[in-house]
Amino acid sequence: MNQLIGMHNFFVLFIFALVRLFGGIDAKEIDSRPLPYSTWMLDSIISRREGIEAANGLLSGIQKGIFQQALRAAVEWSSDEQQNKKWLEYHRKSVKYNAAEFLDPIDNSLAPLDRLCAGRSFMCVFLVLDCDRAALIALRQSIDLQLRNSDGGYWYFVDPPPPYEQYGNLSYSDGMYGFAPFAVLYGLTYGDPHLNIDSAVQQLDIMYEHTLHRDTGLIVHGYDGSRQAPWADGKTGASPIVWGRSLAWYTIGVVDALAIAETDPGLRKTKAYKRMREIYASLAAAEIEALRNSAKKTGRHGVWQVFERPGEKGNFVEASSTAMLIYALGKGLRYGYVDISQRKKTALKYFLQASQASQKVVAEDVEDLVRSTYEDLVEHFVTEHVNGTLDFEGTSVISSLHVASPNFNYYVNREVIRNSLIGTSAFVLASLEMEHLGNRKL
Ligand SMILES: *[C@@H]1O[C@H](CO)[C@@H](O)[C@H](O)[C@H]1NC(C)=O
Ligand SMILES: *[C@@H]1O[C@H](CO)[C@@H](O)[C@H](O)[C@H]1NC(C)=O
Repeated sequence: MNQLIGMHNFFVLFIFALVRLFGGIDAKEIDSRPLPYSTWMLDSIISRREGIEAANGLLSGIQKGIFQQALRAAVEWSSDEQQNKKWLEYHRKSVKYNAAEFLDPIDNSLAPLDRLCAGRSFMCVFLVLDCDRAALIALRQSIDLQLRNSDGGYWYFVDPPPPYEQYGNLSYSDGMYGFAPFAVLYGLTYGDPHLNIDSAVQQLDIMYEHTLHRDTGLIVHGYDGSRQAPWADGKTGASPIVWGRSLAWYTIGVVDALAIAETDPGLRKTKAYKRMREIYASLAAAEIEALRNSAKKTGRHGVWQVFERPGEKGNFVEASSTAMLIYALGKGLRYGYVDISQRKKTALKYFLQASQASQKVVAEDVEDLVRSTYEDLVEHFVTEHVNGTLDFEGTSVISSLHVASPNFNYYVNREVIRNSLIGTSAFVLASLEMEHLGNRKL
């Protein structure tokens, strides 16, 4: 046996030497196996030294949140200890860099809910240093100070800096990415009676009810609890447009919160867990319909900046939200959350009228759809830079409801940029799901 292996190795070396000698194949191709996109993109981000310093402005918390999540997911899937050590060290640096920003509960409570991404990161990796522990406690305390509107929904933040309009009481669906997974994880870890899966579902539900877009079953960007903003729907306070990315943030918030809940068998029996599954199933069904609709109308498998209006003049496929939904749907498939019976029970209640509801959602079809969406994403937005790193095009800059008219024109005129940390990190998460989908049976 040993001898056989020896012979085999010898043979490989011999061929290798021949190839080297005669230069038939570029040495680089022999020495390095082709990297999966997830690793390639993650290493590209790291080679640009991104994700450690806090970015400027309002996106900082959520950007670092999804980047740190991408690092953790890569570590979770990989068995390469050397690489994991490197990634975890980078994660540590990224979390440490601005830990001291979170030490004051009052300051925290004025900041966007995205700050809670940092809380999740503190809990996921280490809680050894006093500063980390103090920051986590201050983040926890800040939730008791979070302003709520009269419907019980959290404001997203209190004082947006100029140039944004100052009206208060706005709740953004994006905020659930920071809040829901943190609430579930915190409740599970510390047994907190006021921050747990119940509070997560309460906020998810309030958001869902106020922002549900009845024609499609998707959700719009957010709502104004006071109904005072010039754009607010008189009844619900809803904003007018389904922005692909805020929908995607919310969906990831739900699927991540569910996945965290899975780690405790007791939680699976709770009403809150079941309700979260329903929200996910309804939303996923609507997103699948919207992706199919895009493919049918435009030939593109992607999430449009204004998702419910694919192919309209000025509208464009937005890269980060496409990657985010690939991740959220891929993960939902992996956990068995995309489910026809759930859809029948709950989704029908909300959008039976919509003609699409009669189409069946079958897991294999959904898998194909997600694969096609990933292929479209790679084809249109991923390019290799001359120095061998990967670039990711097509991510929209921030969109806000603190403006007078968050209408179709507002969203489709947002600038798109290369290598936004949101886009590149989402691409890492999407790639990890896709790279592992191949080996699984649904
Ligand atoms: C590759 O090029 C990008 C863009 O110019 C740069 O930011 C990055 O540091 C380079 N990486 C390497 C490994 O040279
Ligand atoms: C926000 O809502 C509160 C009630 O929760 C109300 O008292 C306040 O006037 C509202 N603020 C604005 C700016 O609409």
